[in-house]
Amino acid sequence: MVYKKTLTKIFLLISSFLIISLSYGLTISKSLNRTKNELSIAKDTMKTNPPAGQEKLAENVYKNIKVFKGLPASRIIPTMRFIEASLGANCGSCHVHDKVKGWEFDSDAKPGKKKARKMVEMMNDINQHHFMGHQEVTCFTCHGGQLNPEKVPALLTLPLKREDENQKDIKVTDRLNTPEEIIAKYIKAIGGKDSFEKITSLKFEGTVQDERGKESPITIYQKAPNKILTISNNHWGETTVGFNGKEGWYKSGPREDKVEGDDLSQLKDAAEFYKNINIEKDYTKLRLSDVVVVDGDTTYEVKGTLSQYLSDKLYFDVNSGLLIRKIQYDQTPLGNLQVQTDFKNYKEVDGVKIPSEIQKIGYDYNQRITYSSIKANEDIADKQFEQPAQ
Ligand code: HEC
Ligand code: HEC
Repeated sequence: MVYKKTLTKIFLLISSFLIISLSYGLTISKSLNRTKNELSIAKDTMKTNPPAGQEKLAENVYKNIKVFKGLPASRIIPTMRFIEASLGANCGSCHVHDKVKGWEFDSDAKPGKKKARKMVEMMNDINQHHFMGHQEVTCFTCHGGQLNPEKVPALLTLPLKREDENQKDIKVTDRLNTPEEIIAKYIKAIGGKDSFEKITSLKFEGTVQDERGKESPITIYQKAPNKILTISNNHWGETTVGFNGKEGWYKSGPREDKVEGDDLSQLKDAAEFYKNINIEKDYTKLRLSDVVVVDGDTTYEVKGTLSQYLSDKLYFDVNSGLLIRKIQYDQTPLGNLQVQTDFKNYKEVDGVKIPSEIQKIGYDYNQRITYSSIKANEDIADKQFEQPAQ
């Protein structure tokens, strides 16, 4: 497999511009410069992948696969990200980067890579022989986000644990018992299907703040049933990402192209205007798993299966009925990666409620969007969502 330089442009879409949040079809800009070239490879793999079920295996796409034989090729990069997250290590800790040739991921020259293979075997062995094949121990269990696992217990573990235990036994009056009831309450809380269907366009204006506290402006236009346009400004200038209902495109300075593959599915998903009133349609399976406290609020925890590898936990406030948190899990052979999205400060806009603050946190980013203005039913021309003529 040839790792082409031009592929970086595809990467830019996913990790620099498109971090998409549930519910309001929101696309926000993101400046994760760190792993540009590395992850473009993942995009390349996904682009050429046949549909699920007949997907190519890792060993047929990559050159030097030993421990992940049999894994679909598109799962290699999420797995690598799981390793990164668990060890607080980056790609370069285990992989060779040549100044001229670029990344040589297949090379075994770095000792960390060989060690990691041995660790995968050890971990599988522990789970197989001591936990009846359940994935109880992962890289993170021992490493806890650092290369060298701690040997000495941290200070003050005990008082913190007691506090957690006090949170058990939460009492809820008029407790709902099914995910259907909880979702019905949520839809009512945000204004109901009828009020939502009276809205056919939305314009959001606000700012995005990254993990370093840096703020940049963002404007998002959405039009029913499935058009979206986001305009953001970051250190490399203005970036526009659009979806006209059929095709996705982006423009960032001199770069301009179609959005394809996995990026396009994410963009399509973001463009769904009535997503929040059809929330249950995303899931093949939903179940109420628990009542838990989230940031001081008592919530219903509803688990939903999205696809073979992705699942969500949704947290609905038991009193207001509003969705206040979503945690998405991406399953890798070594364990699950998680991304948390918080929805705060719901504001009323023409009879419906929309969160005016959305925070999205992964292991390598933390973004907060704050809308200073949300306007409904403004006249937005269809042609705004079209790719500008070149
Ligand atoms: C702690 C070590 C470690 C880190 C960090 C790591 N990898 Fe890997 N990587 C491995 C190991 C081990 C393999 C070989 C897997 C096997 O034998 O099946 C591998 C294989 C790969 C391959 C397949 C190469 C080939 O052609 O055979 C790619 C691509 C890759 N890694 C990309 C990445 C990227 C991108 C990152 C950063 C996001 C990353 N890796 C971070 C250990 C690591
Ligand atoms: C049962 C605990 C345990 C698990 C599970 C575990 N590790 Fe480790 N790992 C260790 C310990 C302890 C060390 C440090 C001692 C050593 O280097 O031999 C270590 C060291 C390493 C190192 C070398 C770090 C350095 O200093 O260069 C790498 C790389 C590594 N582990 C990767 C992984 C990966 C990837 C996984 C998941 C597949 C994993 N480990 C799972 C315990 C664990």
